[in-house]
Amino acid sequence: MENLFRLVDQEQDFFQPKWTLVNGPIIVGAGPSGLAAAACLKEQGVPFVVVERADCIASLWQKRTYDRLKLHLPKQFCQLPKLPFPEDYPEYPTKRQFIEYLESYAKHFDINPKFNECVQSARYDETSGFWRVKTVVSTGSNKTEFEYICRWLIVATGENAESVMPDIEGLSEFGGEVIHACDYKSGEKFKGQKVLVVGCGNSGMEVSLDLCNHNASPSMVVRSSVHVLPREIFGKSTFELAVLMMKWLPLWLVDKLMLILAWLVLGNTEKYGLKRPSTGPLELKNTKGKTPVLDIGALEKIRSGDINVVPGIKRFSRGQVELVNGEKLEIDSVVLATGYRSNVPSWLEEGEFFGKNGYPKAPFPQGWKGKAGLYAAGFTRRGLSGASSDAMRIAHDIGTVWKEENKQLKKRTIARHRRCISLSQF
Ligand SMILES: Cc1cc2nc3c(=O)[nH]c(=O)nc-3n(C[C@H](O)[C@H](O)[C@H](O)COP(=O)(O)OP(=O)(O)OC[C@H]3O[C@@H](n4cnc5c(N)ncnc54)[C@H](O)[C@@H]3O)c2cc1C
Ligand SMILES: NC(=O)c1ccc[n+]([C@@H]2O[C@H](COP(=O)([O-])OP(=O)(O)OC[C@H]3O[C@@H](n4cnc5c(N)ncnc54)[C@H](OP(=O)(O)O)[C@@H]3O)[C@@H](O)[C@H]2O)c1
Repeated sequence: MENLFRLVDQEQDFFQPKWTLVNGPIIVGAGPSGLAAAACLKEQGVPFVVVERADCIASLWQKRTYDRLKLHLPKQFCQLPKLPFPEDYPEYPTKRQFIEYLESYAKHFDINPKFNECVQSARYDETSGFWRVKTVVSTGSNKTEFEYICRWLIVATGENAESVMPDIEGLSEFGGEVIHACDYKSGEKFKGQKVLVVGCGNSGMEVSLDLCNHNASPSMVVRSSVHVLPREIFGKSTFELAVLMMKWLPLWLVDKLMLILAWLVLGNTEKYGLKRPSTGPLELKNTKGKTPVLDIGALEKIRSGDINVVPGIKRFSRGQVELVNGEKLEIDSVVLATGYRSNVPSWLEEGEFFGKNGYPKAPFPQGWKGKAGLYAAGFTRRGLSGASSDAMRIAHDIGTVWKEENKQLKKRTIARHRRCISLSQF
């Protein structure tokens, strides 16, 4: 009897379908961009499937960010389409509040991603006119392959899908703890330690500040230049101010005004080792994707000497780092705040719409739609507000085709039905 059950089980496994035809688009990624695209499609009445490699929505926010993180931009620029933040949320919601909002967002629009399913490859099949999306589904230690066949593919895997781990001479011999900022939670465990923070973007600055607040001694590596702007200027959000000015003034002038205002509020940052790039902050963001730092307290710690700004790294050795100026520092741990990259080139077999860097080649606002039903959500270098605008455009585009085809289908069905009725009268 037991053997019979075993046989039936095996047979069920054998007959498990290995592929499915999706009625509607496949959305790869259940971060804010994927959720926003799904919600907008729902409103258009278009069915979809969301595939997510992690076991939860917004895995970047839930698993790969530090505890003290808050949104850097005011909440009106970070909420997703069709559902605002709760009214009692502060101007800059905390990470926990943002995650709660995203969870209620998914629930509100009844979005149920397929978790633990990582897309391995996707390619357009010219002959059939369909996308073939291959995934690996993980159930415990068990891994199975699956394939989705669909007309539309929405790439929402994010600009920060993989962490950038630099290859620095001697790092493997260093001996102390080395982590990427995506694994940093709090300075608690670094209490009393000398920590080298590599990188001075928003992550590097905030990790350094957090280390200070936990009685660690951070040295922050600034190998080139960085624009530091205050998060607020005279009580108004710097970002909001820039958006407002951009409505009337050219970008170069807004950049100049931003730098004058930043100088009035922060003073000359260069004297603390924070050299400014020759290109303005907005132009640099648009052309190179380099985000300016919005200061939330790190600069004060740099001024007071609690955060030690140091130049680029020459090499590591056991318990030590040598800098390009020849200085040697004894250190206990290293936090690599060296940024992130897109992973699209590793799985999407396409070279026309996406570039080698994993971003759409066309700049904002053109980079949301490719050919043959390919779309990109959340690659605008404009954070959450860019993700929302992509999602609305994509859903409207697919929704229009969907409704038109459904109308045609209904007409054909009614005509066929009428023919049947009239034939049956003979
Ligand atoms: C520390 C930090 C703080 C930030 N703070 C802000 C902020 O305050 N405001 C702002 O506007 N932006 C901020 N950002 C930028 C951030 O990228 C966006 O806010 C937002 O997370 C982008 O959403 P997304 O859905 O495009 O990407 P993600 O949030 O990265 O979501 C992409 C999802 O795709 C999944 N995925 C990736 N590859 C695959 C695959 N092959 N198969 C299946 N699933 C896959 C990932 O697991 C992930 O869940 C921050 C980024 C970081 C790193
Ligand atoms: N609260 C928030 O809103 C918040 C907080 C954190 C992050 N973020 C966002 O998350 C995204 C990623 O930010 P991030 O700070 O993690 O990354 P980032 O902005 O890409 O900064 C990476 C930093 O690492 C440096 N770096 C890289 N390789 C290096 C090396 N080998 N040696 C020395 N320095 C090196 C870079 O220097 P170079 O400039 O010289 O290359 C740069 O300073 C951004 O969009 C950011 O705005 C937001």
